[in-house]
Amino acid sequence: MITFVYKNILFQMKLVNKMMITIVSYANIYDIWRNHLWPERTSAITPTSAMIFLGGYDTGNMNNTATFFAFVANKKIYGVNSGHLCTDGSYRSRGLFVFPEYRNKGIGTDLLLATIDQGNKESAKFTWSYPKQTSWNAYKKAGYSLSSPWEKSELGFNAYCIKNY
Ligand SMILES: CC(C)(COP(=O)(O)OP(=O)(O)OC[C@H]1O[C@@H](n2cnc3c(N)ncnc32)[C@H](O)[C@@H]1OP(=O)(O)O)[C@@H](O)C(=O)NCCC(=O)NCCS
Repeated sequence: MITFVYKNILFQMKLVNKMMITIVSYANIYDIWRNHLWPERTSAITPTSAMIFLGGYDTGNMNNTATFFAFVANKKIYGVNSGHLCTDGSYRSRGLFVFPEYRNKGIGTDLLLATIDQGNKESAKFTWSYPKQTSWNAYKKAGYSLSSPWEKSELGFNAYCIKNY
């Protein structure tokens, strides 16, 4: 593991599946979530989510530790995602964002694959997410299948999806 600080960002570099994916702190990812992924969100942004696969909430999820991933090149973050275990033994993938100038190069898919891999390492039963309809192609390419219809949510249309191990 190589650790360095650049522009107030702590990078802990490690190759994940030979990809330039780094584990970063919550503070690093929070800025990107708040300012770029969820600028219009009114509900609180937290490191973990209470959401349960296919519906409902369990705040017990929030006692688990999330892993925050960044795709880094030229000492810049190109995109991020995160994941954490849930109380039902599943792994939630959450907060996928790639800066517009780096999209359509496979970075979103790579971040999803690294997150799926982390769930597997943490012995999760499966990985799931609740993507926006507009991002579905990236999830499909990472091997996810839809588990529900698209439904109206706070920020658009979302559906549950699953990746079994
Ligand atoms: C969704 C997102 C993360 C994809 O990142 P990316 O690095 O471009 O993804 P990939 O390069 O791996 O692309 C995977 C597929 O998604 C498609 N795609 C990417 N962005 C898309 C968009 N905004 N709308 C529709 N399709 C998109 C790509 O065309 C590609 O499909 P294809 O190979 O069939 O052409 C990125 O567009 C983004 O950050 N969007 C805004 C935030 C967002 O919606 N996040 C997801 C929340 S659930």
